[in-house]
Amino acid sequence: MEQITDKLCRYKNYNFITGFTTAEYIDSLQSFEVRDSDIFLVTYPKSGTIWAQQIIISICELGGGLNEYPNNSEQMPWLEYLMDQDYALRPSPRLFASHLTPALMPPGLKDKKAKIVYVMRNPKDNIVSFYHFSRAAANLETPKSFEHHYEEYLRGNVTGSSWFDHIRDWHSVKDQYNILFLTYEDMVLDLKTAVTKICTFLGKNLSEAAIEQVVEKSTFKNMKKDPKANYEFIPQELLKGNFMRKGNIGDWKNHLTAAQSERVDQLLEEKLGDLSLKFIWE
Ligand code: PPS
Repeated sequence: MEQITDKLCRYKNYNFITGFTTAEYIDSLQSFEVRDSDIFLVTYPKSGTIWAQQIIISICELGGGLNEYPNNSEQMPWLEYLMDQDYALRPSPRLFASHLTPALMPPGLKDKKAKIVYVMRNPKDNIVSFYHFSRAAANLETPKSFEHHYEEYLRGNVTGSSWFDHIRDWHSVKDQYNILFLTYEDMVLDLKTAVTKICTFLGKNLSEAAIEQVVEKSTFKNMKKDPKANYEFIPQELLKGNFMRKGNIGDWKNHLTAAQSERVDQLLEEKLGDLSLKFIWE
């Protein structure tokens, strides 16, 4: 891995947090055996990962047949982080989260049997959430200022690399995968519809009451109190803040200047204009 800063390293055109993984492990994912029953949640960082994680886990729990793990991070581990466990020994259904781009994911996913849920968040709120998390997380570079973070983010000099590349890379190969695209904003505006979509996509036939239960378990208020889901199990010395920060749409208005906001709009047009994506900004 090429060291970029103390806390950021680069391998195969993608930025990782230093110490969380190795080049050998990332290479080994190319021969990772995907099972038809596997479920992958893919996001660019700070796009609603732990939220969709809670939804998918709750759906699978109520759908039956999920093994118990102490918390959501162990129930649905990040595929790219080197863990002290052999996933080949894990019982089905296996759940994984990932911030990886398609090129680094197991090629077996292209058999279209395992399922991928991809959650995208509007980039202005994503920049802001990323900024606050970078200030709180010991493993991330502490931003010198919001402006500095904004520039580094737009250059892709953060863990997860460029938001724009992530979105383009996944959209451009979507026909090769069994993938459901959702947005963070859809989830904020109508959680029940988002839960129902995920449920249908995963082929879980939940009753109306069970869907309501998943919705209840996944509200910001309830997740914040849920020790399995709120990530407060991360020691204070590693995270001086919360995964569950504000959980809304439009906080960018409190952080971005008009010029910064316009530049994001321009970049969206230049880099992703042809994808006809729809963004909800407030
Ligand atoms: S990470 O580090 O990539 O896994 O972070 P990620 O989970 O992708 O993003 C964290 C943001 O998601 C918000 N969040 C929620 N919003 C609304 N409702 C629920 N239930 C919920 N759970 C997590 C969390 O608050 C972070 O966004 P910000 O804007 O910082 O509040």
